[in-house]
Amino acid sequence: MRRRTTPDSFDATAVRPWNAQLDGLGYGGDYNPEQWPAEVRDEDVRLMREAGVNILSVAIFSWATLEPREGELDWTWLDETMDSLHAASIQVALATATASPPPWLTRKHPEILPRLADGTVLHQGGRQAYAVTHPVHRDYALRMAARMAERYGDHPALALWHVDNEIGCHVPRDYSDSAAAAFRDWLRERYTTVDRLNEAWGTTFWSQRYADFDDVLPPLTVPAIVNPTQQLDFDRFSSDALLDYYRDLRDTLREITPHVPTTTNLMTTTATKGMDYFSWSDDLDVVANDHYTIAADDERHVELALSADLARGVAHGAPWILMEHSTSAVNWQPRNRTKAPGEMLRNSLQHVARGADSVMFFQWRQSRAGAEKYHSAMVPHAGTDTDVWRSTVDLGSALQRLGEVRGSRVVARAALIVDYPAWWAAELDSHPTQELRYMDEVRSWYTALWDQGVTVDTVTPHTDLAGYDLVVAPTLYLVDDEGAANIARAAERGATVAVTFFSGIVDSHDHVRLGGYPGAFRDLLGVRTEEFYPLQAAETVHVTGKAVGGDATADLWTEKTHVLDGTEVVASYDDGALAGHPAVTRRNVGSGAAWYMGTRLERSGLDALVGRLVEESGVAPDGIGPAGVEIVRRRSNDGATTWLFALNHTDADTTLHGVSGIELLGGDAVVGDLAVPAGAVRVVREA
Ligand code: GAL
Repeated sequence: MRRRTTPDSFDATAVRPWNAQLDGLGYGGDYNPEQWPAEVRDEDVRLMREAGVNILSVAIFSWATLEPREGELDWTWLDETMDSLHAASIQVALATATASPPPWLTRKHPEILPRLADGTVLHQGGRQAYAVTHPVHRDYALRMAARMAERYGDHPALALWHVDNEIGCHVPRDYSDSAAAAFRDWLRERYTTVDRLNEAWGTTFWSQRYADFDDVLPPLTVPAIVNPTQQLDFDRFSSDALLDYYRDLRDTLREITPHVPTTTNLMTTTATKGMDYFSWSDDLDVVANDHYTIAADDERHVELALSADLARGVAHGAPWILMEHSTSAVNWQPRNRTKAPGEMLRNSLQHVARGADSVMFFQWRQSRAGAEKYHSAMVPHAGTDTDVWRSTVDLGSALQRLGEVRGSRVVARAALIVDYPAWWAAELDSHPTQELRYMDEVRSWYTALWDQGVTVDTVTPHTDLAGYDLVVAPTLYLVDDEGAANIARAAERGATVAVTFFSGIVDSHDHVRLGGYPGAFRDLLGVRTEEFYPLQAAETVHVTGKAVGGDATADLWTEKTHVLDGTEVVASYDDGALAGHPAVTRRNVGSGAAWYMGTRLERSGLDALVGRLVEESGVAPDGIGPAGVEIVRRRSNDGATTWLFALNHTDADTTLHGVSGIELLGGDAVVGDLAVPAGAVRVVREA
């Protein structure tokens, strides 16, 4: 697929930091000045200064404005914008302007439009109507990116390149002819011969055997269940195709501006199943993430924390950019929710607590027209005599006071394994239950650890686990031999490792590992499951054992498990078809231990179990507060300074004990007791 590559002369060490020109943390948002007349744009700059804005994403959806007719370029407004922002000391994350092709392009080349699995064409009139694999689209997009780099590469306001926008957000899977051709090329590269593809896909089943790569299609709409490995490979291919599009644009920019860092905005929890972001890491000069709280989620602050920790995981622990979130309500959920007083500040600083070095919003000024006019912004429709504007100004000054945390890192001793191929494969059709949602399993383990005050790093099965005392692998359905061995080594070395049901079942081709489940982890865990017993809707069973808090309830999944010599049964089924059989087991391994959960415990049982794991592993929480009070630390790179973030997500005031230092938001000395009022945030540089 790729036609450009980073030139040999490219020197990664010469890429300047994205925040080289900023003091402290970044603050700003998407800025769309082309939607507004000159007098509003003048007011914008004045208000940006008042709020302390120092970085903006510009020209994301500007292609049709910059190139209104093919080859006819109008740079006036963007030239003026770059100059006026520079004059106001505001830096720009300048987009490639490619996030939506202009209507003249899709009219001239309708073949670049993407398609759904049933052949439906996704037309222009919304956004992101292009096939990332189409060579014609690619040429136009690269030309646009090159023009941006040529025109603004030396502009003093330019901080970094913002490639396209949320690549794969609306079209994570494209089934067009160009995608089909690119998929076949990808398969040729992966398998070399069609026999190997036949072997990997198990095509002797249902007469699917291919004579030639040219016979292969994407997983289109079919009469009955598409070959699962075909689906899985199409997921892998699609993530790679989206990454390839990013790389091609990035390499085009690099040729012209080798010193300017490049990124694109990820969506680690909101719309993410399409992209294996861990495989994107090394191509991003800095990780940028977009996050929107979900109105229907009662614990949206926990979901926010997971999104931030995923961004930090993709960044290998380095500070990252929160590229978008919202000042208040969004417009795209079934029932959108206005943020409560203090919630926007708390959301923003929660991201900072978990490693963000910049806080940005969609968008600066709320649009008058178009699909996003009811999406909140930093400057709302009602103007500056508003709660939203006052919180925008307050947040700007809070971020200024927190400037010293920039560059510091979050340090965790617990690791949560998240793996996209395992996610894709776990949710394929015709499984023991269709009710299993991979991210629900990740989320419930994440929540249980969050409840214990334990900060986790999100890692992959292939991450070096040497620094972790607790390693949790929820539903790691697909794992290769190296990944399984890596996880086993963590236990040998002394970590407490926990693996949950439907893990280690298949290899990377989605072929079952024989001899009893969970094949990849049978030896590590010292168990052998002979049959799965998925539970029916609303069916629960009881599980008893001290480690699960005495008597716990479980749902969704059970399995008939036998323990091998040396494995201890720590909890068993009390009722149901498997009464008396092991539900939770533990085995000493090397200087560590391996735990297996063959079922899905409901919250109190899981909390008890996670408490036990935390205790056994010796992982210390970052602090102990009442339920709903979050405590996280960032640490300077020399280890000399720590900053404690305390975020009170509850309606009750609280006081934390044993905290001393300087509270940066209020400037007060803290000696022992730190008051954190309901809904408030405190950040203490610890003594
Ligand atoms: C993001 C997108 C923005 C804006 C925002 C609204 O997905 O990048 O352009 O649409 O959502 O929440």
